Amino acid sequence: MSNRQKPTSRPSFRSQAVHNTLALPCVAESAWQLDDESCLPWLQSHWLANQPMKIVGAGSNLILPPILTGPTILMALKGITVIEETTHDILVNVAAGESWHDWVQQSLKAGWFGLENLALIPGTVGASPVQNIGAYGVEVGQLIEHVNVWDFSCGQTKALTTDDCQFAYRDSLFKKPEGQALLILSVSFRLRKKAAWQPTLDYPDLKPLSQAALLDGFVVSPQAVFDQVVAVRRLKLPDPASIPNAGSFFKNPLVSAEHCDRLRQRYPGLVAYPQTDGRAKLAAGWMIEQCGWKGRQLGDVGVHERQALVLVNLGNAQARDLLALAEVIGADVLERFGVALEIEPICWA
Ligand code: EPU
Repeated sequence: MSNRQKPTSRPSFRSQAVHNTLALPCVAESAWQLDDESCLPWLQSHWLANQPMKIVGAGSNLILPPILTGPTILMALKGITVIEETTHDILVNVAAGESWHDWVQQSLKAGWFGLENLALIPGTVGASPVQNIGAYGVEVGQLIEHVNVWDFSCGQTKALTTDDCQFAYRDSLFKKPEGQALLILSVSFRLRKKAAWQPTLDYPDLKPLSQAALLDGFVVSPQAVFDQVVAVRRLKLPDPASIPNAGSFFKNPLVSAEHCDRLRQRYPGLVAYPQTDGRAKLAAGWMIEQCGWKGRQLGDVGVHERQALVLVNLGNAQARDLLALAEVIGADVLERFGVALEIEPICWA
């Protein structure tokens, strides 16, 4: 990627309402739409070097305050470029402002596979490495080769490797204090061609496919995995267009094997996934449901009736209403299971 930008280019400025899938009322004091990388030196020299940045993609994993102070970047960079191709795989660079689900669909159509388990996740490509989006047994970090960023601490572009990005469950460098000067410009994905593709079907919701393959000799295609993931998500998760939400509101907590064993003795139905490091990841949705919160409301906010991990805005909620509900849920789970829940979306409220 080149650093030879035109220094005179500047992004467009507006003070405006910030769209977010939780439908929280939010106005950014100064929002700058970034649709051209040539604007970066201007942003660098005018304000961003010394100020904390707020970057908004599709607003699908954000808890926003009524007024967003300081400068906000509205990510609108577009473009999909093939970098290199072999008979087995392909390296494709995708601009941060592209829609995640549209990109997943386009990759499948082009015959580039690996992203099918991550279908229908709301948001932008640039947001995908931030929380290392993951679903149905795949995390995006497994498919990324580089994340290309503008580093405001030195005013240059950099190509970060997956090691640099420190990917972990719902976590990355971009969520940590040392990643706050980095603006994600594009993501390079290494995807497989058909001959080298293997389905990932371990997740319980994908068992119908693995069983059909085993018992009936059904040949599982990337499109079949995509279709199954889309069907499961539509069944379990509310569409933000009709019921405002930000997907999972809490992370699934990691506990020691001993803690998990103690809980299982008391709660034989406990849902827990063993991790390679010996710990166990507990299904927070299951614990929240056990505490009686599934489908309950508190003023203008509530817990979704089909997936207790998802909090929803039922009317005119503000961030503080959601955070108050999250707090009482967290206190109940702590009291009953001895586990502290952590909020999953990025909270600027
Ligand atoms: N469960 C309940 N009650 C509930 C919700 C879940 O008992 O209300 C149980 C389920 O029956 C299942 C287990 O908990 O046995 C896990 O549920 P599910 O498969 O729905 O997944 P999850 O652990 O609740 C995670 C991700 C989702 C992702 C799914 C599928 C996190 C924080 N969430 O949810 O991601 O779609 O797995 O891989 O890791 C998101 O991040 O926004 C998101 C939706």
